Amino acid sequence: MAKTEPLKRIQRVYGRRQGKPLTLARASALETLLPILEIPLSALPEDGTRDIQDWFQTPVTRAILEIGFGNGEHLIGIIESQPEAHVIGVEPFTNGMAAFLKSAQSLPTRDHIRVLMDDAMLVVRSLKPNSLDSIYILNPDPWPKKRHFKRRIVRPETVEEYHRVLKPGGQLICATDVDELAEWMCTQIIRYPGFDWTAGCADDWRKMPENWIRTRYEIKGEKAGRQQTYLIFKKKDLGSANIKKG
Ligand SMILES: C[S@@+](CC[C@H](N)C(=O)[O-])C[C@H]1O[C@@H](n2cnc3c(N)ncnc32)[C@H](O)[C@@H]1O
Repeated sequence: MAKTEPLKRIQRVYGRRQGKPLTLARASALETLLPILEIPLSALPEDGTRDIQDWFQTPVTRAILEIGFGNGEHLIGIIESQPEAHVIGVEPFTNGMAAFLKSAQSLPTRDHIRVLMDDAMLVVRSLKPNSLDSIYILNPDPWPKKRHFKRRIVRPETVEEYHRVLKPGGQLICATDVDELAEWMCTQIIRYPGFDWTAGCADDWRKMPENWIRTRYEIKGEKAGRQQTYLIFKKKDLGSANIKKG
């Protein structure tokens, strides 16, 4: 992919963009790899027409998006365990992106990886319908105050967009150890008629799914005695004409 244009980022993200100074190794990974792997803003029209294939040079058959990947432990795990998939990772926090890119340096190939250091909705809004096989949203910021709920990554407008870009049968996978947020995400998603919740019993959201890749936040929460909730939804196999909001 061509080099990205100079970064002219608009504030579309709530929360930190940069933390403590980067180590030399992370700064160097950011400087060398970000221009190669980042999807240029010019390739992200917000009109829902972009073919995901335009962002990759190898044929895309399975595509996975991770929103807010933090330091990228889960994304690296996905890349290593599913080498046939094309992955897009979005993380606006510079230190997180730099940590991921440093880990990505040792991967044998990176032609199936794209990133964005900005708001994930730029990627989601630009994609045409039925583009993705899975979307991961792991430990999103909880924004506990009611007046900040509109900042949450899972909210009615975004659920509609996640549904639009997932393929029929595609999965929206969320996890959190904040009980109120788990309930909120579940309510927002099941209220949208185009998703089925895959859980059949309480164990399905309390027990870690098979082959689950754990993130730093998840491990930190567990050490502090918090219980992680795993929420997996499937896009129904219906034409969009059949979907009526309730
Ligand atoms: C609590 S951290 C969790 C990180 C990681 N998923 C994990 O479990 O370790 C939430 C992450 O979401 C990112 N984030 C916040 N707003 C975002 C947005 N609009 N688009 C993409 N990522 C976002 C933050 O920068 C932060 O790294």
